[in-house]
Amino acid sequence: MKILVTGGAGYIGSHTCVELLEAGHDLVVVDNLCNSKAAAIDRVLEIADGSLRLIELDIRDTAALTEVFQSERVDAVIHFAGLKAVGESTDLPVEYYDNNVGGTISLLQAMDAGDVRTIVFSSSATVYGDPHQVPITEDFPLTATNPYGWSKLMVEQVLKDLQASDERWSITLLRYFNPVGAHPSGLIGEDPNGIPNNLMPYISQVAIGKLDRLRVFGDDYPTRDGTGVRDYIHVVDLAQGHLAALDTHATTPGAHIYNLGTGSGVSVLEMRAAFEEACEQAIPYEIVDRRPGDIAECWADPSRARVALNWQATKSLMDMTRDGWRWQSRNPDGYQE
Ligand code: NAD
Ligand code: UD1
Repeated sequence: MKILVTGGAGYIGSHTCVELLEAGHDLVVVDNLCNSKAAAIDRVLEIADGSLRLIELDIRDTAALTEVFQSERVDAVIHFAGLKAVGESTDLPVEYYDNNVGGTISLLQAMDAGDVRTIVFSSSATVYGDPHQVPITEDFPLTATNPYGWSKLMVEQVLKDLQASDERWSITLLRYFNPVGAHPSGLIGEDPNGIPNNLMPYISQVAIGKLDRLRVFGDDYPTRDGTGVRDYIHVVDLAQGHLAALDTHATTPGAHIYNLGTGSGVSVLEMRAAFEEACEQAIPYEIVDRRPGDIAECWADPSRARVALNWQATKSLMDMTRDGWRWQSRNPDGYQE
């Protein structure tokens, strides 16, 4: 198939491009590089052979995007492009709605004009808000607590409404839990701007000596060691989930929704210990106040994806930390030369 990947130069997109190329697909990547570097695509092509064209374009430019669909015979779209920093979304709500919601609407218009009606969308476990219990199944109530989360929910609604209005569309909503780690080659990985907000990149930067210590946000949660518990999923497992979704649904119209997680939770202190083992050094830490908006625990029931997509995460916590550390230690400044 020829697949158009929006945001394909980013963290999850670049890993998914590798898996798609290795599966023999032809790729057109559309990315405005606002949170990534073209070097990531060069690295993708070092890992995997195949046909990949990078087009530097903002998906809100509907006319330019329409031309891409006119000139390339695209079969399906995987849509990663968007802004993803929760804290920043509270300060810049209009930017977030414009990019995430407006960008998706522009993409859907260009797809429709180009007669392409298969889309896989990057949603997030954030749409479950503070879940009443764990593990979380896809039919749990949906809510959001910040503009980023609302933008994901809004896009989910737009896609569901579109499919309900025109049954030719195949839409797949993939709700990611916590993507971490990097490609085992050490060539691609997460390259955050500034001080990382998320746990794994923060720990990596402590290990490499850029940050002095991990700040653990609260040790008084009702969890086994008092720290927050999440469902961390290796980014390569996550990338393969996209292939499984396309294999299953590229030609089956409908609205399909899946959790992509491992089904088990890991605490902040457990993640720290696993990373210490991977990098063979101590990760100093201190306990600080809870981070506003954080929940105690969150993990997936991934059985729907296992049954319907024949997909499940196979990589261990040690794979996540070892591969994360390989990327960080070989590329201390990310893609910056
Ligand atoms: P990322 O920032 O690394 O990748 C997003 C890519 O989209 C970047 O390359 C960026 O340059 C590009 N982009 C942004 N706005 C664009 C626009 N208007 N036009 C063209 N390109 C644009 O983020 P990621 O971690 O790879 O996340 C990918 C998707 O998955 C996002 O939609 C994100 O919200 C979602 N998601 C991520 C996580 C996570 O923890 N990383 C969790 C759940 C969901
Ligand atoms: C965060 C986002 C969530 C988004 C998800 C995807 C917030 C409030 N939530 O989720 O919307 O979908 O990323 O990537 O930002 N922690 C520390 N110290 C740190 C960083 C994190 O103790 O420096 C703890 C957190 O309290 C949490 C766990 O580590 O218990 C994971 O945090 P993080 O990686 O930020 O992910 P989420 O909070 O799950």
